[in-house]
Parts: sequence; C-alpha cells; structure tokens
Amino acid sequence: MADSWVNSAERIGADLHLELSGPGGRRAALIRALREAVRSGRLAPGTRLPPYRSLAADLGVARNTVADAYAELVAEGWLTARQGSGTRVAERAEPLGTHARVPKEAPPRARGPRHDLRQGTPDASSFPRAAWLTSYRRALQKAPNEAFGPGDPAGRIELREALTEYLARARGVRTEPGRIVICSGFAHALRLLFGAAAGAGAGAGPRPGAGPRSRPEAGPRPEAGAEALRGPLAVESYGLAFHRELLTAAGVRTVPLPLDEDGAQVEDLGKERAVLLTPAHQFPTGGPLHPARRAAVIDWARARGGVILEDDYDGQFRYDRKPVGAVQGLDPERVIHIGSVSKSLSPALRLGWMILPERYVDGVLAAKGEREAWASVLDQLTLADFVVSGSYDRHVRRMRQRYRSRRDRLVAALAAHAPHVEVTGIAAGLHAVLRLPPGSERSAVKAAIWQGLALDGLAEFRHPEAAMAAPDGLVVGYATPPEHAYGAALDALCAALPPA
Ligand SMILES: Cc1ncc(COP(=O)(O)O)c(C=O)c1O
Repeated sequence: MADSWVNSAERIGADLHLELSGPGGRRAALIRALREAVRSGRLAPGTRLPPYRSLAADLGVARNTVADAYAELVAEGWLTARQGSGTRVAERAEPLGTHARVPKEAPPRARGPRHDLRQGTPDASSFPRAAWLTSYRRALQKAPNEAFGPGDPAGRIELREALTEYLARARGVRTEPGRIVICSGFAHALRLLFGAAAGAGAGAGPRPGAGPRSRPEAGPRPEAGAEALRGPLAVESYGLAFHRELLTAAGVRTVPLPLDEDGAQVEDLGKERAVLLTPAHQFPTGGPLHPARRAAVIDWARARGGVILEDDYDGQFRYDRKPVGAVQGLDPERVIHIGSVSKSLSPALRLGWMILPERYVDGVLAAKGEREAWASVLDQLTLADFVVSGSYDRHVRRMRQRYRSRRDRLVAALAAHAPHVEVTGIAAGLHAVLRLPPGSERSAVKAAIWQGLALDGLAEFRHPEAAMAAPDGLVVGYATPPEHAYGAALDALCAALPPA
C-alpha cells in the first residue's frame, strides 16, 4: 500500500506522513490515516486540507478516493467543508490535552455542520422547563420518606399508575401497574429483554436465587417462561443500526423482514418466535402497519407461542388523523410494548417503560436486579406528576403542532424547489424520508454536507442482510433545528437535492 509524505507547507501547514496501510482498500486506509493525524494533533484544528487533486497526486490514489474520504470524515465530524473555504480540520476534533500546542494566532476555524437534520432528537429549545420544574417541586414535596430509600426495580408506583391511565387513553394500551417496568428507554428495554451478555436477559428467565417477586397487583401467570426471546429475532429491513448492534452484541441473530407500503411483511415470518416492529410509524421509512397485518401478526404470535416487541417511539405524533392505537391493545399477552420520553420530551431524561405480558415480568425484574440502578426516583416522580397534572398532554399537543408545521414547511419547500423529490410515509413523527432518483443517494448526502447539513441517507438504516430492493432516499429530521434556523436549513436542503 502507498506510504507517502504530503509536504506542501502552504497547503496543509506542516509535513504530514500518511501511511495508507491496513485492511479495506485505499479509501478506508486514507480515512484511518487522516483520522489518526487529527487525533494525534499532527493536523491541528482549523488546518486547511489539500484539494482533492493534489492529495490524490501526492498519494497516488484516485481523486474520488480522496473526495470520499473527506466526505466520510466530514460526516463523522473530524473535518468540516464549506464552499469557498475548502475542507478543514474541525474545531472540536482537537485532541485532548493539546490546547497549549495551538498557536494563539491560529487561523479562523471552520465550524461543524450549520444545520442538524439528522433524525432522532426533539427540538431541545422546547423542553418545558417551567412546567417540569413545577412538577419536580410538587413531586419532591409530596414524596414519602420511603421514596428516598433504595428504589424498586419495577419503578415508582406513582409513575406506573399514571402511565396505566395515560397509555390507555392516548395509545389504547391495556395494562395495570403490576405489568409495567420502568426503564431508561428503548435501548435499555432491549438490554433487559435480551441481556447485555448471553444469558442475562429476561429471555433467560429469572436468575438463580432471584426468586419470584410478590406483586399484589398482578394476576395469575397464564404461561411460564420467555423462551420466545431466546431464538433469532425478526426485525424490519430498515431500522436503527444502533439497536441492531446492541442485539448482535447480546448474541441475538436478527432476521430482516421485507417492507412495503403496508409496513413489515409479517406473512414472511418464518421459524422465529419473536418480532420487533414499529407499527405506528415504521422507522425510518414512515408507513403504518396495515390493519390486516396488525391482526395477522397477533394471529401468528398466538399460533406460534411467540411475542411481538412493539417500539412505540413516536406514537403520539400523528398529524393527519388521530393516532392509531398500539398493537398491544389487541392482545396484551402477546405484545411487549415499549415507549420512552425520548421523542416527546428529551432523550436526556433517560426514562421509558415496558408494558409486559404477565409471564415476562419476573424475568425482566430479575434482569434489572434487586434495586433500581438506572432511572432516578425523583425523575420518575416528576414524570408521574407531569402526566397526572396534564402537563404532558399539553406539551405533546404543543409539539404536535410545531412538528406538523415543520413537516408542512418541508413539503411546501420541496413542492416549490424540488417537485421531483417525493416525501414518502404518513404525516407523523419527527422525520420524513425523501425518495430520490435511483443511484443519487450518495451524491445527495455529499452535497448536503457541502451545504452545511448533517443528515443521513436511507442506506444507513438498512439491515445488512436485507433482501428487498434498496430505494435511494434521505432521512430528514425536522425537529432538531431551532425555530429561527429552520428556514435556512430547508433552503440548504433544497440546494443539495439532485436536479430533476
Ligand atoms: C426507532 C427508535 N426507537 C426507539 C427510540 C428511543 O430510544 P431511547 O428510548 O433508548 O432513547 C428511538 C430514538 O429516540 C428510535 O429512533
């Protein structure tokens, strides 16, 4: 592999030894070498990198190899790209402990992406600080002394009662406090169900010595064990890579189900006995699970002794109609319903809930341990007050209006400036998928980076073994930019889209 000195002082400020070695081809080797140069401080923050052509010539690689490597490192946040000022080492890429080495008269530094259109987070400026504080005060005043002892891993009863009422009303969930386990969000729920290491999760059943807990609210156990979680898990062909990785790390094999406009093709379920779905709003492609398929997957679970994991990540945010109720309401003994406040309030709170069939409760509690180790009791009590006082409803209503208007503005901007680009999926959630002409996704993502945008292509979400067609698209999160910057973010997005 090439091993080259790039030594044009006026171009990059210092001699730089880039060693293109290791696995994965020249692009991967160049990415590694540049990352290492930034990490070690040999490329200081703000340093302008050579143009593609000169670095390509110096290293004896193709110009596109350099362009792709730069684009990748921009996307990762190591470099920044601005039209007119080239590609530079990002400000925040400064290695730890090297501040003293940066000269006082360092050149003006380029910033990271100007607009964050990655899916995922709500509008952080809309966190209801005042209402949350009111609930916190009230919760603290009302909390009995025992609340400050070691926490119950099931979660505070006040919160489980509040969620029982709220989820029945808002999501059609049928449960009781004894079947709810509070957790720190969806990712934590997966860890609890499948275990961070083989054998630790609920699928493995209660740990030796954990014993059954007494749960006065719970009814009789209709069926023992949670074997369905021990085999392969069917998942949708598009989903969050982070969740797939988490499952793989727990030793779970995921089997992709094809998707169409009616959601996951549940009729293709094979030998698996567990399936993970996003029925309200397929993540990220955006369709709801068709009513016939909702019924079919319940029939499948009943016939196979299987279980459905329902990820209700943004179920309250539907803009064209009243939200469709949770699949859990069709058969509470066949569905593990999982929700969190990550989309509705903030992912920083780390608060979520699992609504469990009776036979899973002991295993999940055993996986959690004897004491609450994740979700702060004060946060739980605050959320309970926030829900019971009506503040949660008010906040969700307000955010529904805001996100709906953002989605409308996105659709209007595309209709005006890129009518050939279709917004797919239902009017719901905090993101939309823009369907692009075949073969144009990679270049559109690069163009978006050049426009100062952070966003992902659809390919980022595809299961590596998915067998269905791979449509080109951009996943645009419209919730994150602050209100004042949203118009500019849309302008930049339209400028990045491929021509008709
Ligand atoms: C598909 C999906 N499921 C679940 C979640 C919620 O994850 P968590 O509750 O771990 O923050 C997210 C992100 O907010 C998501 O994108």
